[in-house]
Amino acid sequence: MSKHYATIKLRKEKPTAWITLDRPDKLNAINATMLQELSEVLDNTEKDNNIRCVIITGEGEKAFSTGADITQLHKLTQETAAEFSRKGQQVFSQVEALSKPVLAAINGYALGGGLELALACDFRIASDHAKLGFPEMKLGIIPGWGGTQRLAWTVGVAEAKRLIMVGDRVKAEEALKMGLVDKVVPHEELKAEAEALAQRLCEYQPEALKHAKRAINAVTQSLLKSGLKNETDLFALLFSKRETKEKIESFLSQRETKKRDTVESG
Ligand code: COA
Repeated sequence: MSKHYATIKLRKEKPTAWITLDRPDKLNAINATMLQELSEVLDNTEKDNNIRCVIITGEGEKAFSTGADITQLHKLTQETAAEFSRKGQQVFSQVEALSKPVLAAINGYALGGGLELALACDFRIASDHAKLGFPEMKLGIIPGWGGTQRLAWTVGVAEAKRLIMVGDRVKAEEALKMGLVDKVVPHEELKAEAEALAQRLCEYQPEALKHAKRAINAVTQSLLKSGLKNETDLFALLFSKRETKEKIESFLSQRETKKRDTVESG
């Protein structure tokens, strides 16, 4: 019997494995358990010779993932923030290094860490409902799971600065124009489109695909490695500042107030 995970669904439809981020009531926000379980299922699919392609998506109609679970952020110190950043980077690098192609089927919001995960995938297909961006500036922080690096490599430095520093959130069509996603499809066709691409890939020789991925990834690897370390140091440094914690706490308490008001007025 296959293992049950608290925050992930793993469904194997040979030769494809579907990994679904499964906290729909929290818009699939990524907590420590999800990171750990994602790592486990990636290991599992790597070792399974019957699996030749992996698709990552989000449960529910609204979100692929809205990023790191914000409720875990305000407790971080400089030291634990560095660990938090390294752990996420490590799991997303596992996605990037998987010997099989990995597709992101972006079914809604892909924000912060959710977009960082999608950027670590080899291909990104987006529903026409998808919205993508990096809201970290609003929290007084920067992306810490590879986003500053992989976004710049994917869309160029200018667009990376617009998305991260200005904090512009883009819809699927705009994301397509800037090369942030490879294809946009009507929401209800997303799964079929992802499956169709997976099937095309599965027709090729797995060894050839694996070597193509390795060779292409090597273009960025040495700079990416030092860039990720730099990102961790800078991400963690922000957690040594009182202002950062205040900003995150104020964001959380504003959300609590909004929630209370909605309940009371409803
Ligand atoms: N971390 C923790 N919880 C999150 C979350 C995150 N990144 N994103 C969404 N959630 C939770 C909300 O707190 C809410 O939980 P509740 O019902 O217990 O209050 C639930 O998911 C639904 O989200 P809600 O905000 O009510 O949905 P919405 O449609 O009004 O807004 C967003 C959608 C994406 C605009 C909003 O959820 C948001 O801004 N999320 C934070 C995104 C972010 O800053 N990510 C970067 C983290 S570094």
